[in-house]
Amino acid sequence: MDPHVFVLFGATGDLAAVKLFPALYRVTTREGAPEPTVVGVGRSDWDDARLQDTAVDALVAKDVDESDARAWAEKALRFARVSAYDELGPVFEVVEALEDERGLDGNRVYYLALPPSAFEGTITALGEREKPRGTTTEDVDESKPWARLVIEKPFGHDLESAQELNEIVHEHFPERLVYRIDHYLGKETVQNLLVFRFANAFFESAWSRRDVERVEITVSETNDTAGRAGYFDGVGTLRDMIQNHLTQLFSLTAMEPPARLDAEGIRREKIKVLRSTRTVKPSEVVLGQYASGPDDPEGYLDHEGVDASSRTETFAAVELNVDSWRWQGVPFILRTGKRMPQRLSEIAVVFRRPPVTLFQNEGDCDPARNVLRLRLQPDEGFRLSFDVKTPGSGFGVTTRDLEFRYQDTFGAFPDAYETLLRDVAEGDATLFVHGEEAEEAWRVYADVLDNPDLEVHPYESRTWGPEAAAELIQAAPIEEVGDEERC
Ligand code: BG6
Repeated sequence: MDPHVFVLFGATGDLAAVKLFPALYRVTTREGAPEPTVVGVGRSDWDDARLQDTAVDALVAKDVDESDARAWAEKALRFARVSAYDELGPVFEVVEALEDERGLDGNRVYYLALPPSAFEGTITALGEREKPRGTTTEDVDESKPWARLVIEKPFGHDLESAQELNEIVHEHFPERLVYRIDHYLGKETVQNLLVFRFANAFFESAWSRRDVERVEITVSETNDTAGRAGYFDGVGTLRDMIQNHLTQLFSLTAMEPPARLDAEGIRREKIKVLRSTRTVKPSEVVLGQYASGPDDPEGYLDHEGVDASSRTETFAAVELNVDSWRWQGVPFILRTGKRMPQRLSEIAVVFRRPPVTLFQNEGDCDPARNVLRLRLQPDEGFRLSFDVKTPGSGFGVTTRDLEFRYQDTFGAFPDAYETLLRDVAEGDATLFVHGEEAEEAWRVYADVLDNPDLEVHPYESRTWGPEAAAELIQAAPIEEVGDEERC
């Protein structure tokens, strides 16, 4: 990892406190890491001390010892106040002074945790500063320091705006320098999807329309959007969760094996599978909005800052269909919602039944479908259900599970942001979203975003979403179904 200055735009915001300071602390206190230099940028009337205090509180909240946190913050953090995000004079004064003082080579990470309205001005201003330094050429020039641009979601709000944003970005920074963050890609268990699929020939050979009947991807959240109306209202779950996090899970599940396990190899395959994915039709989407419930007197519409007639969805279930040799005819169902009964992220691969049923006892004796559940959070691991003979006479059948739990073997994981910030510092773009990928993902949902014909069904808080979604989610492999004597 080369020594560099990490310039954090949006340093006074929530993301910085909750995720970025703890992640920066962990990345820069690893053995062999260079001394940390972080310049926080914001428009608020803060100074170095205020930024450092905020970071110390954030670190202590994540169980870092207070004196370690204080020593780190005082060493690492400086504040630069700007009046607007396209007037970056004060930022470069601080950055250049630190580079001189600390004998740095001029390598820089620019991290934009900013509202989308600030992207254009900031990127343009950064590009103009970087061009004369020779850091933003199409091909790498080893004699120059490096600059990298990290962009937090949302990356546009539809296909057109994503294309426009890509144009602005590429005017100043070639794609090789751009790191678009989808923090789901930093999660260990999401990366494990690649190992699970491509290191185990056993599953990979069954990973196609021949053996798979359907795939259901669920991210259910117990949190709501109270206090976030400014961001969430008018944005909704299709944009906040489906187009990015769940679509990433989908493309990692459905992509072909890459030629190489590097940024180019993986991103190329993800783009390919998105390109083969049909644009979703309105009939393939169910939207919902949480109402109140027995334990939640406030429904979505009652939150402060939410328009009483808001149609913003807090739940979405979507069917994706892929026109490829591997997946033709296999629906991928994506479902996510707020205020659900349980926090859970899971990919359920539902295999076909055996073609002939041999065990025709009394009652419902069709063999169950084998279901492989990849559990991403919490309780990370996987579980494969299968049928066994119930002891005794005849051929009674019981469903049981084979199960693996990460925690039992490996203990705790690094936080997603820690992984991603380390990769940015090391120049590894494998876990970041390519510009073309972001555009394709918007194209898939182009006909259902802001579609006035789509009904937004209310659902009671702490339920699994509106009734209308039940038809899409047939196998609903969310509940525990193991250990069942069926016939
Ligand atoms: C964010 C969304 O990107 O991801 C939030 O804006 C959502 O609405 C969050 O709650 C979920 O992330 P995680 O890591 O808690 O699953």
